[in-house]
Amino acid sequence: MVTKKGITDFVRMKEEKKQVTWITAYDYPVASFAEQAGIDMILVGDSLGMVVLGYDKTNPVTMEDCLSHCKAVRRGAPNTWIVGDMPFMSYQVSDEKAVHNAGRLIKEADMDCIKLEGGVRVAPRIRAIVAAGIPVIGHIGLTPQSSGQLGGFKAQGRDVKNARALIKDALAVQEAGAYSILVEAIPPELTAFICELLTIPVYSIGAGPADGQLVICSDMLGLFQAFTPRFVKQYANVAEIETEAIRTYVREVRAGLFPTDAHVYHIIEPLEQFEKMFQEFRES
Ligand code: KIV
Repeated sequence: MVTKKGITDFVRMKEEKKQVTWITAYDYPVASFAEQAGIDMILVGDSLGMVVLGYDKTNPVTMEDCLSHCKAVRRGAPNTWIVGDMPFMSYQVSDEKAVHNAGRLIKEADMDCIKLEGGVRVAPRIRAIVAAGIPVIGHIGLTPQSSGQLGGFKAQGRDVKNARALIKDALAVQEAGAYSILVEAIPPELTAFICELLTIPVYSIGAGPADGQLVICSDMLGLFQAFTPRFVKQYANVAEIETEAIRTYVREVRAGLFPTDAHVYHIIEPLEQFEKMFQEFRES
């Protein structure tokens, strides 16, 4: 039986320099595998738009998409801290809309906290959501929802001007009341400095060592094949296993090798009685 961790555990883990493990999940099976494997946290990311729904960016993802996947993940991982991602335009417009939509993730999908993208410019939204009693994780660096403004899915903070802006973003997220922050695709030197500067836990995806690591399950399991970011380490090639299994199934059905007697339900009354009944139908 897994013991669910919470904010006080994550803060203590930072103090004790213990790594937090974090993975995305979008459905019941992967969520349950992650919980069984002993993961500390799960993110139901709006990356689901790309790795599950087949869009070429995350922006088309709706609140309803997120709610549906969050609910499935919660059913798969009842004893894990789960972060629900706020999709594009669910929080940008106003504090009221942000609080309303964050509340839906908590109330309807039983999420433990929410994550939203941005630093200085979303600080008022973070403040409003936290004031409503909802724990928030910030997300800065490569923020996929604003990839258009960033010139694509590009690493951030590689020059001093941009790094300075990201440090201000990190401070703004902390001051607004977020209990932790995710930094994505920034240089490890900058990540180390932000970890040192902030009192809240700092998690990394593609940003080197930090207080914990996040991976996209579809990348690390080898399920997403459109592209593989430089920072991904693939721990399995599930796409290859699945494709090969389906290829074998197609071959066996075509060759009459499946199904066999082992894959059917047998009758529980004498065959003669069935044959009699079939004959009655033929004659009617
Ligand atoms: O949606 C997501 O999975 C994310 C990660 C890319 C950090 O926000």
